[in-house]
Amino acid sequence: MSIRFDLSYANIDPSEFENRFDQLAKANEDLMNKTGVGNDFLGWVDYPLEYDKEEFARIKTAAKKIQNKCDALVVIGIGGSYLGSKAVISALTSPFYNEEPRSKRNGPKIYFAGQNISGKYLENLLALLQDQEVCVNVISKSGTTTEPAMAFRFFKKFLEEKYGKAEAKERIFVTTDQSRGALKFMADEEAYETFVIPDDIGGRYSVFTAVGLLPIAAAGIDIDALMDGGKSGFEDYKKPKFEKNPCYQYALYRNVLYNRGKNIEILVDYDPSLEYLAEWWKQLFGESDGKDGKGLFPAAVHFSTDLHSLGQMIQDGPKNHFETLIVIDEDQSNLKVFRDEKNLEGLNYLDSWEIDAINEKAYMGTLLAHVDGGVPNGIIHLKKLDAFHIGKLIYFFEKACGLNGYLLGVNPFDQPGVEAYKKNMFALLHKPGYEDLTAELEERL
Ligand code: PA5
Repeated sequence: MSIRFDLSYANIDPSEFENRFDQLAKANEDLMNKTGVGNDFLGWVDYPLEYDKEEFARIKTAAKKIQNKCDALVVIGIGGSYLGSKAVISALTSPFYNEEPRSKRNGPKIYFAGQNISGKYLENLLALLQDQEVCVNVISKSGTTTEPAMAFRFFKKFLEEKYGKAEAKERIFVTTDQSRGALKFMADEEAYETFVIPDDIGGRYSVFTAVGLLPIAAAGIDIDALMDGGKSGFEDYKKPKFEKNPCYQYALYRNVLYNRGKNIEILVDYDPSLEYLAEWWKQLFGESDGKDGKGLFPAAVHFSTDLHSLGQMIQDGPKNHFETLIVIDEDQSNLKVFRDEKNLEGLNYLDSWEIDAINEKAYMGTLLAHVDGGVPNGIIHLKKLDAFHIGKLIYFFEKACGLNGYLLGVNPFDQPGVEAYKKNMFALLHKPGYEDLTAELEERL
């Protein structure tokens, strides 16, 4: 099995699952038949089968062009418009990808921008890229999001000053809505090569569209295999039997523990390669669940690093959380500890142990300690870390997230709460149209 969910340490009685089977079947039916709430955003459900093959080929061609032209690709986007590609690229390349010589990389260095409002970040990135061959992929579904729009203004100028308008045009790739938004308008006006985010797919569910695929392909990752993983997820996770469907198991496990009063889910990884997958997961579940005063707060820890910071809180703090582990079953390295004559740090007992095997014991020891401390644990076993398995894991989480939203009774495909900060920020920046709110907020500050 490419993905398996182990419930042995979850402390859930089978009857707690069985009680929810009808609700789960209904949630699945609403999702697969696209009849549930938010069904105008369910294009992701069968996208790994139904995607636009012509555009997919164009993505591969653009990725080759980027690889041939550039030392560095700047991916500009925020939230669902960058986390998916960053997660996949971080998972499937060396932790030191950007520092490696070009001969060891399958693509240009990849940098991200427009995912914050930091002048320091932008200034340093522009300075770093001054003497490099640069391409830009600007991604925004709405085409109006402030953070990426601002970063793109800088990078457009940077490219035009460096190469002239005509060559800059050859280096700018736009991913946006097919007909609406300021970015689409600009792309048409400037004749940039453009890729489409389908109307019925929201940002955090868009990894399999050009949003994720172009940067991922540019990094030299096999996007056919990634799509195959998504397709395999579609096939496997519609199987009706709970016992044979790890995605159902994960969705119900979250629901059971939430209803038992747990309000924090901690995603745990044991390899730095998965840190950004956890960031993507946090957005997926955070924006999908958190509505009407409901939802599990999605947190993430990276072990063993965070065992030396947050481990204490998980072990002995308030018991309002549970942990979901992602474990990669196949070793990723054969590096072994070796014998040292002096043995001053007393490590010779680990002579010939693989580092990955030691990490496995750390995971097992921690699992038992946390379970003994009253923290339920569920374990997602990923057979190996490659494009197929990451594609399947992404689909696994997307589907579980959709099911979970329906079980919770919220629309998992909108994010109305995100607008609140934007409105206030615009008012405080004196954006035309927000005058009344500006006065009100300034009085409060
Ligand atoms: O999941 C979502 O819809 C959001 O996180 C968006 O991806 C994010 O806000 C960026 O939006 P846009 O792509 O419109 O710039």
